[in-house]
Amino acid sequence: MIKGALLLLPSLALTVSAMAVEMNGIKFKDYVGFENKWKLVTARYRTDNRELRFVYANPIAAKAIEAGAKVYPKGAVFAKIAYLAQPDPAFESSLGPSQTRRIQLMVKDPQNYKEHRGWGYALFTHEGKVNPEPEKDQVNACSACHDLVPERDYVFSQAFNRHSLPAQLFQLEHTTVERSVLPSELAAQVPETFAKLLIVKSYLTKNVFQGTLDELKPALARLASTEKKAVVFLSDDKKKFSLVYPEDLSTDCDDEGAKGISLVSVTSLLDGRVNKTQFCQALTR
Ligand code: HEC
Repeated sequence: MIKGALLLLPSLALTVSAMAVEMNGIKFKDYVGFENKWKLVTARYRTDNRELRFVYANPIAAKAIEAGAKVYPKGAVFAKIAYLAQPDPAFESSLGPSQTRRIQLMVKDPQNYKEHRGWGYALFTHEGKVNPEPEKDQVNACSACHDLVPERDYVFSQAFNRHSLPAQLFQLEHTTVERSVLPSELAAQVPETFAKLLIVKSYLTKNVFQGTLDELKPALARLASTEKKAVVFLSDDKKKFSLVYPEDLSTDCDDEGAKGISLVSVTSLLDGRVNKTQFCQALTR
């Protein structure tokens, strides 16, 4: 009995010391096991150091990121685990996570972390140890890089459902063009009532594939319904396009965003295949 208790002691001591570790006022023990409790909100692969990164969010942060938050509320916490990616010897082109490398945390608390725009940064090894470098230097480095994304409240990650397009693309820049200047295949799809259309200006027009056209539909639809105009996204080579226009101003769409306007969407790729679909459901994405 006594022998058993003694044997347990060393590992218990180790656990206790790891649990007591804190950095920047953030206690490792408060977050142990987050990966089993929180939602995985995104994953990233870093080409600079061949690391896979998995980003988890506590319920407050998960709700905010999925809604495309521009500012995170107090209590939001992100935790990221970074692993070196290593090939599976059984199938070398398939890379998977190797040993755990680091755990990084961002805790939103505007009162406590004024100096770093409301975020408390902390870095631990997976055993719950801190780096030997001065804490202040580490935290300043975290914050300096995260300062690159003020428009996302210093959070790089974007939720899976919003990932394929950067946020700014949803505020589509556009100009007005005459229908007559459009390529004939496209002009033929635009009802005569629209002598003028809004055309999207974006770096995305350079490289267009079906995914781009699909992803853009909700943004085009929003523009078409707010401006009550036909909206077109046209690739620089003028061979691919996505067109959305109000079809019948008297038809109701279920979705509020459509403001009672039914929209028609047409996309076309190189092969000239044309899909014409009722568009209301795309607005709810
Ligand atoms: C040189 C730039 C850079 C530095 C320095 C940096 N980060 Fe990040 N961080 C990123 C990028 C880029 C991401 C997006 C995911 C990825 O690529 O790992 C990220 C993601 C995160 C996330 C997930 C939430 C989000 O913003 O996407 C956390 C948490 C995080 N970093 C914490 C830290 C902490 C703590 C430090 C300092 C110890 C730190 N970061 C230092 C660039 C940086």
